[in-house]
Amino acid sequence: MTESLVADTPINLLDLVDDGPRPDAAPGIRPRRVYIETYGCQMNVADSELMAGILTRQGYDAATGPEDADVILINTCAVRERAEERVLGRAATLNGHKKERPDVLLGICGCMAEHLRETIHERAPFVDLIIGPDAYRRLPALIEQAAGAEEHELAIDVRLDKAETYEGLTPLRRDGVNGWITIQRGCDKFCTFCIVPFTRGRERGVPPREILRQARELVAQGARSVTLLGQTVNSYRYEDVDFADLLRAVAQVEGVERIRFTSPYPVDFTPKLIEVMASEPRVCPYIHLPVQSGSDRMLKEMRRGHTIAEYRQLVADLRAAIPNLALSTDIIVGFPGETDEDYQRTVELIEEIRYDFAYLFKYSERSGTYAHKKLPDDVPEAVKGSRLSRLIEIQEAICLEKTTPYVGRIVQVLIAGESRKSEHDWVGKTDTFKTTIMPKVPGSEVGQIVSVQVEEVTSHTLKGHIVTRDESITS
Ligand code: 5AD
Repeated sequence: MTESLVADTPINLLDLVDDGPRPDAAPGIRPRRVYIETYGCQMNVADSELMAGILTRQGYDAATGPEDADVILINTCAVRERAEERVLGRAATLNGHKKERPDVLLGICGCMAEHLRETIHERAPFVDLIIGPDAYRRLPALIEQAAGAEEHELAIDVRLDKAETYEGLTPLRRDGVNGWITIQRGCDKFCTFCIVPFTRGRERGVPPREILRQARELVAQGARSVTLLGQTVNSYRYEDVDFADLLRAVAQVEGVERIRFTSPYPVDFTPKLIEVMASEPRVCPYIHLPVQSGSDRMLKEMRRGHTIAEYRQLVADLRAAIPNLALSTDIIVGFPGETDEDYQRTVELIEEIRYDFAYLFKYSERSGTYAHKKLPDDVPEAVKGSRLSRLIEIQEAICLEKTTPYVGRIVQVLIAGESRKSEHDWVGKTDTFKTTIMPKVPGSEVGQIVSVQVEEVTSHTLKGHIVTRDESITS
């Protein structure tokens, strides 16, 4: 299984919809061109859209690729070491553009900027800009500073700011059909393995007025599905508004056909939230509910704040309240001290819960975390590897078992775009987040929700044909 939380596709600003005036774009002067490449979680994708919004309003234009960019920004992830290594490799490759055109500026943004701020000048001395996740408002000023700087002088801003919610800044959206809205920044949970509280700072909720403004704006731009984002999204609170209140409010925004959220923290899943999910038809019956391990001992060491029995009860409550609920999870194997016995508990858990899919990771020690300081990374790499492969094998079989009953069913699919494999096919998602491929039919188009009869499945994909079309198809 791939680590599909890692977005491999670089974002090209040209794919984004320009939604605002660019006050500084003086007539006759070619605006500076920027290229943003994104790694990591959906929140990074949303942050790149935020940066693109800030820069276009300052007069910047989209580059078609790094080769015609004046400013190249890499938005990065620090959650596992491998993610960082990939970015450093990519930065070295992009440095080739600076060698050809010395005025080009190269920046590292996001979590890695925060994590490697002290060593980055050694590991990637050619980088001109280092910008942490709370400094994006100052991005234009930092670019100006770097442009005027002496060689090897770094423009850097990695201050974390517990008041920054980027209120009032409209992201430049990438995807027409699905819109991301960041509702919470930072994290206060301090799971012992996780670097996020250190790279993104303290948890803060975005004001509901801003979230609703963005939801309405997304609909106006053609989005039909909205995903609310936060590190522990259901811990959201802003004054007396909690996540359940917010979810209901967004689900009622005119034109939002589907609403999802990621990633919830099990402990903060309240009965009130389950009730909202069960009673709001536009909230999708799909939850990504990270568990990390099937062993109570490991959960305690990870400081997840719950036991397996409590998690199991939560899943039972969710399944009882929400028919046809699809579930996915995150699991780490090889956390410090994990024995064969602990690992076996994880195997048993995935066999018991039967997730629709799972993102499976080998533990990666991250400096600054509690685990790095106190818990030796003592599971040998080969053991981590074999535990991971076996889990992947078991989960793959469960994935297929989960998609098989779809054969013969009619599902509602939101068409997201053309299939990568054929210009004759659409690709879209069911409300349970299953990728579905179907041949285009006259009158069908991106953004429609169509009824699809499923004919065949693989472990991750449904294939079928459109049987009826919703009222918005006019031909
Ligand atoms: N090592 C391996 N996986 C990690 N994750 C977070 N930190 C680490 C780490 N140090 C995983 C968790 C989390 C997902 C986003 O990444 O499973 O839920």
